[in-house]
Amino acid sequence: MIQKIYKILQEMIMRIIIKKNYDDLSKEAAGIIRNLIKTKPDCVLGLATGSTPIGLYRELIRFHKEEGLSFSRVTTFNLDEYYGLQPSHPQSYRYFMDTNLFKDIDIKPENTFVPEGSVKRQDIVRHCADYEQRIKKAGGIDIQVLGIGGDGHIAFNEPGSSFNSRTRLVSLDAQTINDNSRFFNNSEEVPQFALSMGIGTILEAREILFLASGENKADIVAQAIEGPLTSMVTASALQLHPKVNVILDEEAAFSLKRYSYYKFTQEAEGKIEMPIF
Ligand code: GLP
Repeated sequence: MIQKIYKILQEMIMRIIIKKNYDDLSKEAAGIIRNLIKTKPDCVLGLATGSTPIGLYRELIRFHKEEGLSFSRVTTFNLDEYYGLQPSHPQSYRYFMDTNLFKDIDIKPENTFVPEGSVKRQDIVRHCADYEQRIKKAGGIDIQVLGIGGDGHIAFNEPGSSFNSRTRLVSLDAQTINDNSRFFNNSEEVPQFALSMGIGTILEAREILFLASGENKADIVAQAIEGPLTSMVTASALQLHPKVNVILDEEAAFSLKRYSYYKFTQEAEGKIEMPIF
């Protein structure tokens, strides 16, 4: 009984893991996904785009090629997609997922879902409702991978998005357009709208894998993890989630007020081989 309670409590935490660098962060994250696939081969993964999860995807491809980790029964749902881009557009998130992960693993293309950025305007509401339904029908998301935008967004939930928001059409913040213009020829080419899972949708995932790397993320990461709950930093909503693994590299962890405490806990856990929460 006590062990059962301990196990339940153990699940109810935001665990902060600080790794030396981006490579170690990616390996740690990939290990968590590998464990899930091994224990639940038909699991449902929530996936993210951006530069942060690329190392994680590279590791998963390596596990597939070197260890035979199979994705043949896995289903995936991506967080978001630019509105107005065809799936074949090199900056579309569908294209990103195909080239950075799906083409190199044995996942069935029909089991990979990304909101459709090319859906007609009059079909947007239905498409978003269908996306939510599909997630439910698949049994819900087991682990949702997340990065964080410079303005604190998760998926494309810009500052001010409701914590109850669902998959919908959103307009992008000027900062996001500016941040993401590095992938386009100029900021005018960056779409101004996107289809994005809501914060409410994300919070329903059974587990969150929240990744951040690099010094430019340090301040916003500290606000998200240690700051007040506020829709002005939508990632702060993760403080409400019962099971979050935050994996940071040293640079992204730099502004955390409780940095030493997290390091101490992490080291102590290693020594006593028992989770502390
Ligand atoms: C985009 C995505 C987010 C992602 C963010 C950060 O805005 N919609 O899901 O977390 O970029 O990207 P990066 O990892 O490149 O910093």
